[in-house]
Amino acid sequence: MTPAHPHSARARPRDDVARTPPPGPRGLPVLGSTLETRRAPHRFFERCWREYGDIFQFRAGHQRVVVVADPESIARVLIRERARYVKGSTYDGLRLIAGDGLATSDGDRWRARRRQLQPLFSRELAAARWPWFWRLAGDELERWRARHGDEARVDVHALATALTHRVLMELLFGLEAAREAQVSARALEAALEIVLLRSNQLVALPLWMPTPANLRLRRALATLRRVIDELSSRARAASPAGPPTMLRELTRLRDAGELDARALQDELLTMFLAGYETVALTLTWGLSLLADAPEVTRALRVELAGAPRGDRGAPAPDQLPYARAVVDEVLRLRSPAWIIARDCVEDGELGGHQIARGSVVLCSQWLAHRHPDHWRDPERFDPARFLEPRPRHECAYFPFSRGPRTCVGKSMGLLESRALLLRLLESFDVERRGEPQPEFRPLNNLRPDGPVWLWLRARRA
Ligand code: HEM
Repeated sequence: MTPAHPHSARARPRDDVARTPPPGPRGLPVLGSTLETRRAPHRFFERCWREYGDIFQFRAGHQRVVVVADPESIARVLIRERARYVKGSTYDGLRLIAGDGLATSDGDRWRARRRQLQPLFSRELAAARWPWFWRLAGDELERWRARHGDEARVDVHALATALTHRVLMELLFGLEAAREAQVSARALEAALEIVLLRSNQLVALPLWMPTPANLRLRRALATLRRVIDELSSRARAASPAGPPTMLRELTRLRDAGELDARALQDELLTMFLAGYETVALTLTWGLSLLADAPEVTRALRVELAGAPRGDRGAPAPDQLPYARAVVDEVLRLRSPAWIIARDCVEDGELGGHQIARGSVVLCSQWLAHRHPDHWRDPERFDPARFLEPRPRHECAYFPFSRGPRTCVGKSMGLLESRALLLRLLESFDVERRGEPQPEFRPLNNLRPDGPVWLWLRARRA
C-alpha cells in the first residue's frame, strides 16, 4: 500500500488551517466508527490515512480519537509537548492488571520509579544475558525436537510464545516453572481479553458489578497475583543460579525501603505484561517474514557461521550487524506496538489542526513505519535498509516508542529477540510450503488472527 497524501501534514503550512479539527469520517450516530475499529482497525486507519492525510480523527462512541502518522507530529506528542499528552484514563484497563507499575503510572510517581528501575535494564546487564538467552533457547528447541521429530507443521506463534515464556520465567524468577508459566499466561490472556473488550465498549459497567465478564476478570486478576506470589516464594527458597533475576533486584529495592510489597508485585506484573508478548510477536512475525525471504535467511546464516563463538557457544552479538538489521526490519513492518496512546489534557495543535482536550491521540507505528515520505518501497521486507547510513527522522521509526518513556527493556528485548530468532534458524529450516499468510488482529499489540502455520525441518550440524 502506498497511500496518496492529499492532506499530508508536511505539505500544509501550519497557519492556513490553524484551529480546524483534523478531518475524518463522520461515522454512525452514537456509535461513530466503533464497528470499523473492532475487527481490522489497521485497515480502517489505512483507508482514513489515504483519504484524509497524516492526521485524522474519528469517533468511537463518545470518544474523539486522533490518529497521527506524521513523524514530526509524533515527536511533538511523545517528546516535545509530552506534558500535554499523558498516560491518562486510556490506561485504566491495564492498571487493573499491573496497578501503578512503571508502564501504567505517570507524572512524579512514574519519574521516581523509572529512576529506581532503570539500572536493572542497563545495556551491560542485557549484554551479560546474551549467552544465557542463547543456551535457554537451545535447550528448549532440543526438547521441542525430541517431542515433535525432525520435521513438522508448526504454529510458530505458539512455539514463539512458549520459548519467550521460558525465558521470561528465568529472567524474572530464575525458575523453569513450566506449569506456573502456563497458568499465569492463561490468566494474563484472560484478563487482557476482558480489559481490551471493556475498552471497546461504549459503556463499561463498573468492576464491582457481578457481570460474568467482571467475575472472570476478578478471578483472572486474583490468579495472576497468586501465581506471582507463589513463584516469588519458590524463587526465594531456591536462590537460583544464573544472572541476577528481576525478583532479586526488586527485592533488594524493597529491603532498602524503596518499594513496598504491592509495588514489587506490580512491577513483576508490568514486566510480564510488557516483556513477553512483544518479544513473542517479534519472533512470530520474524519467522513468518523469513519463511518468504530465503535470501535473507541465507545471509543471516553466512554471518552467523563467520561470527566468533564465546560463552555457551553463543556468537559475539556485536559481530552480527545483519542480524540486528533483520530484527530492526521485522520491527518496522510488524511492530508489536502498532499504536501508542496518549490522553490530550490541554488543547493543542498538530500539523495545523486543533487537538481538543479530552481526545485520545494514537501515534501509529503501523502508519509511520510505512510512510512513503520516509521509507523507500515501504511494504518490502528489506533488512539492508538498516545498514545504510541514512539520516532518518527519529519518529519515522519508533517500535520502542521515543522520548523519556522509551521502552526500558529495549536493549534486553532486542538481544532476546535476536538470540531466539538466530538460534531457531541455526537449528531449523523454516518454510511456508503453501501455508496461508497470517491475518492481523491488532489489539494491545499486533497479534496474528489465529495460528501461524509454517514447516520446521531440523538442520544437520
Ligand atoms: C521487542 C520487544 C519489545 C517491544 C517492541 C517493546 C515496546 C515497548 C513500547 C512501544 C513501549 C512504550 C509504551 C507506551 O509508552 O505506551 C514500551 C514500554 C515498556 N516496556 Fe517494552 N518492549 C519490548 C520488550 C520489553 C521487555 C523485554 C521488557 C521487560 C522485561 C519491557 C518493559 C517495558 C516497560 C516496563 C515499559 C514502560 C516504560 C516506561 O513507561 O517508563 N519491554 N515497550
